[in-house]
Amino acid sequence: MANWTVATKRMAATVLSADTWLPTELPEYAQGFMYMLGSLTASSFVVLILSGVLLAMNGPASWSYNGAMHFVAATHFWAVQAFFFFMMLHLWRVFFTGAWRGGRGLTWLLGAVAFLVAIPTAFTGFLINGDLYSQWNAVQAKDGLNALGLGWVNLTNAGQMYGMHVVVLPLTLAAIVGLHITLVRLKSVVPPYPEPAPAVSLQERRGDA
Ligand code: HEM
Repeated sequence: MANWTVATKRMAATVLSADTWLPTELPEYAQGFMYMLGSLTASSFVVLILSGVLLAMNGPASWSYNGAMHFVAATHFWAVQAFFFFMMLHLWRVFFTGAWRGGRGLTWLLGAVAFLVAIPTAFTGFLINGDLYSQWNAVQAKDGLNALGLGWVNLTNAGQMYGMHVVVLPLTLAAIVGLHITLVRLKSVVPPYPEPAPAVSLQERRGDA
């Protein structure tokens, strides 16, 4: 009789199998550029994490130390531009192909949550810049959060924002993206909408044509 261990073992066997992660064939419709946008988002996310780790390893002000750290900071900055750019295009692709169909609702939901979590992740990164713009934004946004009853999120507290930006939010985002991509691998990419039936003229319908 199946029990939790057996069920978990079966699930792990599917999730961890080479067939799930290394498919050798792609459906014809999924070979265009539009279907690469999710992978481009994921690739930008990897660059984002790697450059972020280098910045965090060297400390909050390390972006200003030397030319190499300027380069790492610029890479982090451009990776986040690419991440949001590709994520928006991917969101449009999945919207216009109705990619929630065929039991892909949870994939869609996780994508939407990833988008929502990505916003504060980027915003806290902007706040820990510490320049006058980021201070002004922190104070304005703090008023907004206070009004919402979220006073414990202190946007003017650089330490809290640093912890949120380098640990809490990116790890949450990585977990959500990981689950999103796992579901895509398990459920595969959505097939296109069926072709609409050819239009029939009035004469044809009447039988006069
Ligand atoms: C963190 C950002 C995201 C990453 C890294 C990501 C990654 C991916 C990847 C690699 C695929 C496979 C197909 C493809 O590349 O087009 C995919 C599919 C999918 N994504 Fe995303 N995605 C993200 C955000 C979103 C958002 C914001 C939504 C919608 C609200 C979404 C909904 C979907 C759905 C429903 C599918 C499965 C069906 C299909 O591919 O046709 N994703 N995603």
